[in-house]
Amino acid sequence: MKPHVFLYGAATSAHQVEGNSVNNNWWKWEQGRPEEFRSGIACDHWNRYKEDFALAHQLGHTAHRLSLEWSKIEPTEGVFDATAIQHYRDVLLELKKYNIKTFVTLHHFANPLWLEKRNSWESSETAELFNRYVSYCAQHLGDLVDFWITINEPMVYAVQSYAKAVWPPQKKNVFTMLRVVNNFAKAHVLAYRTLHRITPHAPVGIAKSMVAFAPNQTLKHWFFNHRFFSLIKNKQDFIGVNYYFAEYSNNADTVRSDLGWIVSPEGFEQVLLSLKKYHKPVYVTENGIADAQDNNRAEFIRSHLRAIENVQRQGIDVRGYLHWSLLDNFEWAEGFGPRFGLVAVDYATQERTIRPSAYVYKAIIEQAKRDEKLVIH
Ligand code: BGC
Repeated sequence: MKPHVFLYGAATSAHQVEGNSVNNNWWKWEQGRPEEFRSGIACDHWNRYKEDFALAHQLGHTAHRLSLEWSKIEPTEGVFDATAIQHYRDVLLELKKYNIKTFVTLHHFANPLWLEKRNSWESSETAELFNRYVSYCAQHLGDLVDFWITINEPMVYAVQSYAKAVWPPQKKNVFTMLRVVNNFAKAHVLAYRTLHRITPHAPVGIAKSMVAFAPNQTLKHWFFNHRFFSLIKNKQDFIGVNYYFAEYSNNADTVRSDLGWIVSPEGFEQVLLSLKKYHKPVYVTENGIADAQDNNRAEFIRSHLRAIENVQRQGIDVRGYLHWSLLDNFEWAEGFGPRFGLVAVDYATQERTIRPSAYVYKAIIEQAKRDEKLVIH
């Protein structure tokens, strides 16, 4: 059996870091909100990616997850922008220069404006439109992609936009929500086939948000954490897990993030163990904490990596960990307040400052490299 080197790194998404995503639905929605809730130039990562990847390299990262901004690649329906795709080639080549493995997400919450006019994920035609864009990306970038992630957190998108109605298009309707989830599943399955055909070397998955629910919340656990896997009929080469918090706590001195989220490495073990039945490799595609003072991030990383080791001993094939996030960034409806970065960003000057916890993570990565930590299958 093939040994795999455990991958360590961080994750970002285009709209949250690049800046000037002027052609997507989030940008449009933000314009009606106060300044600190508008993405603007965000971290100016579009222009500063070299500096940012030099930091990731300096911090010992061996993998990096980013997303492609659909509205920049296909600004008008059916018309692709050669400059934008070349930009992403340069971005991925920069990571390759450092021998950093690339996880590339094709859809991370934001939609091109032209797609919004066609009702985005409410429409059953969107899966085909997405597939055309996926095919273009695979043809032009495929040689530089190690892992594909088709869709980021389809359930979060559906719940935030159509159940809680706090994200655009803010339509509260449970039937529409279910339709959106089905359309994401359809899009994933089409994209899965397309990606396998064009880039057979690169494994394909989704990034699935998972929450640790209280043990008596079995329906919520099934619906939010697992239903999407059954819709895509396990058409995934690996499972990408985004995990942040538990919904419950039995502990009086529970640590909470700046957003009030309950820190629970035990909950992380619980959700990872629930993946056993799929018999797939697992990559943690996001895990992190809003912690502006950096008081809890180092211990958060240590305890969640320990949780991974515990579940590995119980037969869960976890092969990598991508911390959210490399940089402080635009946290959707929460604006620029929450600070998730291993690296702090001063938005007035765009100055980057490495937080102490990033060095703790670096030391863990270096120790693992010395131990030649492998995952054997
Ligand atoms: C999303 C990220 C987001 C993070 C922290 C995940 O739901 O994929 O875009 O920034 O959580 O809230």
